[in-house]
Parts: sequence; structure tokens; C-alpha cells
Amino acid sequence: MASTLFTPFPLRDLQLPNRIVVSPMCQYMADDGSANDWHLMHLGQFAMGAAGLVITEATHVSAIGRISPRCLGLYSDENEKALARVVDFCRKYGVAKIGIQLAHAGRKASSLPPAQGGKPLTAEQGAWKTVAPSALPFGPGWHVPEAMDRHALLAVKQQFVESAKRAARIGFDLVELHAAHGYLLHEFLSPISNQRTDEYGGSLANRMRYPLEVFDAVRAAWPKERPLGVRVSATDWIDGGWTPEETVVFASQMKAHGCDFFDVSSGALDPRQQIPFAPGYNVPFGEKVKKESGMATMSVGMITRPQQAEDIVSGGKADLIAIARGAMDDPRWAWHAARELGGEALYSANYQRCTPAVWKP
Ligand SMILES: Cc1cc2nc3c(=O)[nH]c(=O)nc-3n(C[C@H](O)[C@H](O)[C@H](O)COP(=O)(O)O)c2cc1C
Repeated sequence: MASTLFTPFPLRDLQLPNRIVVSPMCQYMADDGSANDWHLMHLGQFAMGAAGLVITEATHVSAIGRISPRCLGLYSDENEKALARVVDFCRKYGVAKIGIQLAHAGRKASSLPPAQGGKPLTAEQGAWKTVAPSALPFGPGWHVPEAMDRHALLAVKQQFVESAKRAARIGFDLVELHAAHGYLLHEFLSPISNQRTDEYGGSLANRMRYPLEVFDAVRAAWPKERPLGVRVSATDWIDGGWTPEETVVFASQMKAHGCDFFDVSSGALDPRQQIPFAPGYNVPFGEKVKKESGMATMSVGMITRPQQAEDIVSGGKADLIAIARGAMDDPRWAWHAARELGGEALYSANYQRCTPAVWKP
């Protein structure tokens, strides 16, 4: 039987050659938000054959929206030039489509990279004032963010728009807005981090309002033939938090606003979360969103084996599969999956001599 994982998938005018996506992965290697040679290697290796679509790490829309001082950004001309160099490189030598994840870290900004402990920056380390829907810290010892007023809401929305315009100029094929993992847009959705009393807090409709406004503004600025999707955490994994049922409502609303796909992850809003990690642990959430809202979905989280990925897409549980650590481990993931499943992966012309048609390991 033919492999479903290796069938194309259309999103607006973009034709993805297969259903495999390299998931965004922060590298904490940028200089003042600008990509450098590390990113040529990191994204370049994936562009050569890990997947049909490679999505950049969380790329922040402002300097204070960065998770750490070494995070990638797209808020200055220098950032744009540096990222354009990386995307041009991937296009020149690679075969994958290239997407960008646009993000604002909200109350989880101003921290050290995980390899240095991941804790909030101290004043000596250059901590900055963070912003969020409400003045509630992520956890004990974390920065108390400033609750965003009307001016801040407009300013951050405009930053998303400006970054999307820069992404369009660079020539990205697709944008994914980061509304997961406890970052700013997720903080608006969850009743744990959003305790506002204005029209942006309280009811589900109010909590969804700001992410929907940001989406609409970006959609209007991003070329209409190119797809725009959203990454969500389907649950906060904590009582009183954001739920899968609310995620379905959010997806239905987003679909009506022209959203092309939901990338369904979970958690990271509150350190008290209890996540039952297991292979494919987010798949049931993505399946629920797909079946109940009709939104195209990407599943992510401990999907590592080709047959596992094949079963998820051929079983109608997701349209696309995102792979993070598995792609770092094997930057030729799609080639090896194609060999196992009898599919056809893309190779650059000068690597044709190791295709299964002419060479067997
Ligand atoms: C090194 C690393 C960096 C990550 N950075 C991001 C990120 O920038 N944006 C994001 O949405 N998720 C990020 N994630 C989460 C992954 O995209 C993915 O959702 C998660 O690792 C589960 O998938 P996996 O089991 O295939 O690794 C990161 C994960 C890793 C391992």
C-alpha cells in the first residue's frame, strides 16, 4: 500500500511535497536577534532532506519578546538581512519548503538559555521588563510582568505585523504564530495567566480576542497565497487551565478567520503541570481538533518512528507530523522514512547517487 506520509499536502498556493515537518527548535545562538553561521548549518542540514517543510525556531517580534538574549528575532533590518542569508542558503542548496515561527515570549522572556539553567535573568545579567496579559509571574522567582495596557496591545500586534512583512520579503513559504508553550498569545488564552477584567479577559470569547486580533492583523499583512497557521498548547495539564474543548472552539474561530492549520502541542504555561509523556502524547488532542473543527492539523511530540507517523496520518488523526528531537538526531529523517515506507523523498541533484534507486546501504 502506498504511503500517506509521502503524499503531497496543499496549503493555499503552497504544495508541501510530503507530510513531514521539522518542528521549531530554539538554538540560543543568535547575536542581537540575528541569525549567523550556526543557523546556516542548523537549518541547512534539515533543508537537505529531513522533511518537506522546515520551520525556524521561535523568531521573536521584539527584543523584549525574546526568551533569552541569544534568541532569534525579526525586528530590525540587521535581523532581516541575516535571516535572508540563511533562507537563501537553504533554498540554493536544499529541497525543503521553509516556514517561520513568529513569537513573543511574554512573561517567560528575559531568561537564560536552558543549557545555562533556564532561570530568569538577574539585573547583572541584563534582565529586562517583561509584559503579559496580567501582572502574574510564570512561577516562583520569575519576573513579575507588566500587564499590557491598550497602547501595549496595539504596539505588540503591530510588531507581529512588521515581522510578518519582513518574513514575506525574505520569501518564507509559510508563517506559524506561536500561541503555545506559555508564551504571550497562550498567556492570553489561559485563565491561569489571564486574569484581566476588560474585554481581553474572563470569558473564553474575551481570552481569545487578542490572539484573534493578532492573527487578523498578520493575515492582512502576509501574502494571501501563502499559508498562515498557529501552534497551540491544547491543554495546560493543570486544573483550572486551558482545555482541549476550548482549543476546539479556538480552532473553529480561527478557521473562520482564515487560519490554514493548527500545530497541536501542549503544556508549558505553568510549572505545576503534570504531563504524561509517552509516544505521540499530543496526537489525541490534534485528532480532536481536526475532527471537531475541521481545521487541518499538525501533530507533534514524541513521534519518532516512520511507521508511527504513517499510522497517524493514514488513520486520519493528523494531516502533518512535526518532528523536533528526531530531526536533530537524524537530519535525513524523511529519506530513511521513505526507504522504510516505500515513499519517495526529495534529494538535491548532487546527492542523487545515494537515492534508493541507485544505491542500497
Ligand atoms: C532544542 C529544542 C528547542 C525547541 N524550541 C521550540 C521553539 O522554538 N518553538 C516551539 O514551538 N517549540 C520548540 N520546541 C518544542 C518542539 O518543537 C517539539 O514540540 C517538542 O520537542 C516535542 O517534539 P519531539 O518529541 O519530536 O522533540 C523545542 C524543542 C527542542 C528539543
